[in-house]
Amino acid sequence: MSIESLKFLSSEQVLSLASEFGTPCFVYDQSTLIEKAKQVLAFPNAFGLTARYAMKACPNIAVVKTLTNQGLHIDASSEFEVYRALKAGISGDKIQLTAQEHPADFSIIIDNNVFYNACSIEQIKQYGKANPGGEISIRVNPGMGSGSTNRTNVGGPASSFGIWYEQLDEAIATAKEHQLKITKMHTHIGSGSDPEVWKKVALMSLETVSKIDSIHTLNLGGGYKVARMQEEVATDLQICGEPVKEEFEKFAEETGRQLHLEIEPGTYLVANSGAILTTVVDKINTGKAGYNFLKIDCGMTEVTRPSLYGAQQPIISISKVENRNTEEYIIAGHCCESGDILTPAPGDPEKLQPRELSTTDKGDFLVIEGSGAYCAGMSTKNYNSFPEAAEILIDAKNKEAHLVRKRQTLDQIIQNEILPEFI
Ligand SMILES: Cc1ncc(COP(=O)(O)O)c(C=O)c1O
Repeated sequence: MSIESLKFLSSEQVLSLASEFGTPCFVYDQSTLIEKAKQVLAFPNAFGLTARYAMKACPNIAVVKTLTNQGLHIDASSEFEVYRALKAGISGDKIQLTAQEHPADFSIIIDNNVFYNACSIEQIKQYGKANPGGEISIRVNPGMGSGSTNRTNVGGPASSFGIWYEQLDEAIATAKEHQLKITKMHTHIGSGSDPEVWKKVALMSLETVSKIDSIHTLNLGGGYKVARMQEEVATDLQICGEPVKEEFEKFAEETGRQLHLEIEPGTYLVANSGAILTTVVDKINTGKAGYNFLKIDCGMTEVTRPSLYGAQQPIISISKVENRNTEEYIIAGHCCESGDILTPAPGDPEKLQPRELSTTDKGDFLVIEGSGAYCAGMSTKNYNSFPEAAEILIDAKNKEAHLVRKRQTLDQIIQNEILPEFI
């Protein structure tokens, strides 16, 4: 594994941000976000494109609004994400809800013209009861999926996401029962998608669309691979999208139906737009047969991907000391949990894999790159009562740092606790 380098910060910026805002903190780069939004909005399409930001990837309002200001719509994964987007001032007709759970209250969804994407036959029923005669999208599990690990694969028989493709007739009948018009179809097969699998699923989805005349939009989800580590190869959206565009054109020739395309990336838009700044607080050695550990002031409370999936994130050591040698380290997070390791073996969180870094000492900083997606928004929040880290955005115009989420206080962590009188 080659030594990684910073993606959008300079070493001087790391030192000054750490001193101004403290660590741990997330830093997002607005210029990278804008650049990625432009790439996504240029996705090849035959008859129009709506690109949604899967806001679960990083739900901070400054990130969400930067992307929606570029023209992206929103993919929400729970009713609470819908409320959060509405509260951020995003109009309901630019939001689509695709969720595992039914909203407790459909009226907010319906009253705000949020589009509902049913992921099960039960969801069609529930929505049909709340909004008979309305329009609906259906999420279909096409029978195959793709993911860098099983935990990020959301298609195929081992996945509960979407209506199983063989139950399509029942889904259509259920929609009919409630006078629901199915106008959109959705698939999302998983993160880390192989472009070949993605293309195949697009073709399978078009076949399903051909069975439902009322569908005018096909949403092919997200899952485009990014290169966090130097040796990884990112999906080229132009290469990935072009054959799909051709298939849409072929479909139009054969059926006379010009389908609108939707895509909804999360990772692609934000992964490399964010980094975590953390301080090395201790150094431990476990003898000849052991390891050199660097202990840092963040961990699963900021980034769960390595301990959950064995995911690899670039780690860069920043120090005021110049001309350093290199050394191999295991990076241990600050949680009282032996699995809180930031340098697992690729794809295997059970194993440790030492990482070569510039020689690092207590008081130096590590920058964990590739932390814009599924980090701040997907952490073991408040474990060991660690407060949520601050979030900072570097603006595209003046390259200045702005606090976009304050560091949480202990009082905020415990504010909803109640001590009953009998204790
Ligand atoms: C329905 C849906 N759409 C979009 C996404 C975004 O995927 P990614 O962040 O891999 O692009 C996800 C992620 O799980 C998803 O479940």
